[in-house]
Amino acid sequence: MPKAPLIARTVRDLRAHVDAWHKAGHTVGLVPTMGALHEGHISLLKLAQARTTRTITSIFVNPTQFAPNEDFDKYPRTWDDDLAKLSAAQCDLVWAPTPPEMYPPGFATHVVPGGAAEGLETDYRPHFFRGVATVCCKLFTQTRADVAVFGEKDFQQLAVIQQMVRDLNLPISIVPGPTVREADGLAMSSRNRYLSPEHRAAAVTLHRVLQDIAAVVRAHDNMAAVARAEGKIEAATQAGMKTIIAAGFTKVDYLCVRDAETLKTFLAAHNRPARILVAAWLGQTRLIDNIGV
Ligand code: PAF
Repeated sequence: MPKAPLIARTVRDLRAHVDAWHKAGHTVGLVPTMGALHEGHISLLKLAQARTTRTITSIFVNPTQFAPNEDFDKYPRTWDDDLAKLSAAQCDLVWAPTPPEMYPPGFATHVVPGGAAEGLETDYRPHFFRGVATVCCKLFTQTRADVAVFGEKDFQQLAVIQQMVRDLNLPISIVPGPTVREADGLAMSSRNRYLSPEHRAAAVTLHRVLQDIAAVVRAHDNMAAVARAEGKIEAATQAGMKTIIAAGFTKVDYLCVRDAETLKTFLAAHNRPARILVAAWLGQTRLIDNIGV
């Protein structure tokens, strides 16, 4: 049965609900989002519901993680649809602060992440993780959630949040949620709705290329063949770039194999889990995806 969630728009209201829940012995799970919800978000909510007795979904299009030339103004805002999905999924509370509630006049403190934030997205969106880490740190302290669930679709973001929680001893557990894909393999993303039918058809190439490279990485776990393995992985990555461009993408920001834990260079000799990550442009739309090996 759908059940309309509570809606909080001020920290004061939010805290009143959460304090009452904690007093009653409940545990609280948080799913941070920017709205435009899809099945991927709902799968994160289900993970939160499996671990806690009360759940919050935050909906806040966070201005500090967008550069002036990015899509903040056109980012999809689909409040009624989001609320219907959260009701159907039995979310208990929607935390939807206004920008001045989140960043009141005079706001001047930011979290500047290093480590996992270095390279990849930061090479192309240098402002991004400072905005994400700052808002997530605030979401955690505002909601006092016990658990927060983040999708693996934004794999580097997940790593940055895990590092921030470790480094700052934030009293919250971070739970990763597997990427949810469309039937043809395209990772679900709020930005997929920007795609024209032609671009939507081309977009699936990212997942196919990731799978092709994964097959090459998987085939080379033999120490004796390390040099050859690295050559083959490099060749598969170069071929993947060409395939992506041939499918109609305008630019590949990165396509690379990294160590899944450090996100630094992947060395076949170290025999550790790898993550293959891609960011590429289809016209004005930037898509990212990744898979683990
Ligand atoms: O992944 C997102 O939607 C955003 O980066 C997040 C984590 C909600 C912070 O604004």
